[in-house]
Amino acid sequence: MDQAELQRSGAIAELPSMEQLWMPFTANRQFKAAPRLLVSAQGMYYRAHDGRQILDGTAGLWCVNAGHGRPEISAAIAHQAQEMDYAPPFQMGHPVQFEAANLLAEIAPADLKKVFFTNSGSESVDSALKIALAYHRARGDGTRTVFIGRERGYHGVGFGGISVGGMVANRKVFRGSLLPNVDHLPHTYSAEHQAFTRGEPAWGAHLADDLERIVALHDASNIAAVIVEPVAGSTGVLVPPKGYLERLRSICDKYGILLIFDEVITGYGRLGTPFAAQYFNVTPDIITTAKAVNNAAVPLGAVFVRNGIYDTVVNGSPDGAVEFFHGYTYSGHPLAMAAAVATQQIYTREKLLTRVRDEGIGQYWQEALHALSDARHVKDLRNIGLIGGIELDSRAGAVGRRAFEAFVGCYARGVLVRYTGDTIALSPPLIIERGQIDQIMSTIRDVLRTIA
Ligand SMILES: Cc1ncc(COP(=O)(O)O)c(C=O)c1O
Repeated sequence: MDQAELQRSGAIAELPSMEQLWMPFTANRQFKAAPRLLVSAQGMYYRAHDGRQILDGTAGLWCVNAGHGRPEISAAIAHQAQEMDYAPPFQMGHPVQFEAANLLAEIAPADLKKVFFTNSGSESVDSALKIALAYHRARGDGTRTVFIGRERGYHGVGFGGISVGGMVANRKVFRGSLLPNVDHLPHTYSAEHQAFTRGEPAWGAHLADDLERIVALHDASNIAAVIVEPVAGSTGVLVPPKGYLERLRSICDKYGILLIFDEVITGYGRLGTPFAAQYFNVTPDIITTAKAVNNAAVPLGAVFVRNGIYDTVVNGSPDGAVEFFHGYTYSGHPLAMAAAVATQQIYTREKLLTRVRDEGIGQYWQEALHALSDARHVKDLRNIGLIGGIELDSRAGAVGRRAFEAFVGCYARGVLVRYTGDTIALSPPLIIERGQIDQIMSTIRDVLRTIA
C-alpha cells in the first residue's frame, strides 16, 4: 500500500497541513516536501507516522538518556499536574523544586552544590554568564566583563550563547548585535594530528595556552569567565586533547577567571560519569546543563554553581534584598521538577549515569564505531563515552550534502542519526544494548555504500 492507501485504511495518521509552522533549525521547504514525522516512542525506539519503527541513535537530541516512555516519569508529571499545575518562583517556592535541587546536588562535583533552574540549555548559558558577572561585581571586581568562548563552540541561541559560541552560521546574520566584550580560543581539532583517535587525542593540549595570549591582550582584570564544552558536540564531536582542560583550569586559576563547562550534552551520564567534569577530573566553577536533567520530558535547564560563588553573591547583598536579579516565570516549573525527581531516581536506581563506563558499553561503542574506518566516504572517526562522530569526505561544492543523504538513508532504513556539516553525530540513550549498537553501525555502513 502506498502512503495515501495506508492513510485511508487508518493504519497511519493523515498528515496535518504544514504551511503555518516555521520549524527551527530546519530546511522548511525541503522538509515539508518530504516530511519525517515521529508519532510515538518507547525504550530505544520511535515510531514514525508511516508506522515504521526507528532505532534512536541520538537520544532524541542528546537528551532522552533513560530511554523513551518511562512510566515513572509520566506518572510523576501527571500527578504533579493534578496536585498543583504552577507556582510562582519569585519570592515563593514549592517543595518539589527543593527536592529536585537536592538530588542534583548529590551527583554534582564537590563544591558545585548550588542549583539554579532555567528552561533550556540556552537559558542555562545566559544565566551562567550573568552569574559570573554578578560574582565579580559582588567581590568588587566589576571591571571583569569579558567572556572567552571558543571557535566551533555551541552554547545555544541566546545572544549570550551565540556571542561566546563559535559557529559561523549561527552568528553571521546577527553579527552586529552580539555581546561586545567577547574573545575566542582556537578550537581543538586537527585532522592531521588527531584523525581516527580513539577517545582523547594525544595532540593539542598546548592550544589551551592561547588563553595566556588572550589574557595578555585584554588584561586579567577585565576577564570574567572562560566557557567551553568539555566535548564539543554540535560542531561535529570534538574530543578534548589529553591535558587540555587541566591547562585551561590552571590558567583560569592563575588569573582569577571563572571556568564554565557547558555540559548540556555531556551531563547526566553521557561519558560514563554524572558529568564530564568528573570524567576528566577537572572541576569548573559553573556547569550548565539541560536536556537529560529530566530525560527531556518537560523543558528544563539547571546551572550548578560553586558554593563560594553563591555565598559571595547572596551574602554580599543587604538582608531582605533580592540578591540576583535574574530568573524565569518557569524557573523550577512544578511539572519539570516532578520529571527531574523521577528521572534522577531512575538514573540512581538503574546506575545509568555510570553504565557506559561500568558495563563496558563505552568500550563496545568505541570498537563498533572504529570498525567503520574502511567504510565508504569515511574521513575520520571520533568517540568518547557514548558519543560518536563519523566525518565524511565532503562532496566538492556541496558541504553537508553527503551527510544529509546519509541521515535520510539511515532514517529510511529505520535508524535515527544526526548530522552537522559532513559529520554524522551519534549519542543514543544510555540504555542501549550491544545488538542495537551493531544495528546502528551496520546501517550506516550500508547507507554509505549506496550514496554517491
Ligand atoms: C553545549 C550546548 N549548549 C547549549 C545548548 C542549547 O540548548 P537548548 O537548545 O536547550 O537551548 C546545546 C544544545 O544542543 C548544547 O549542545
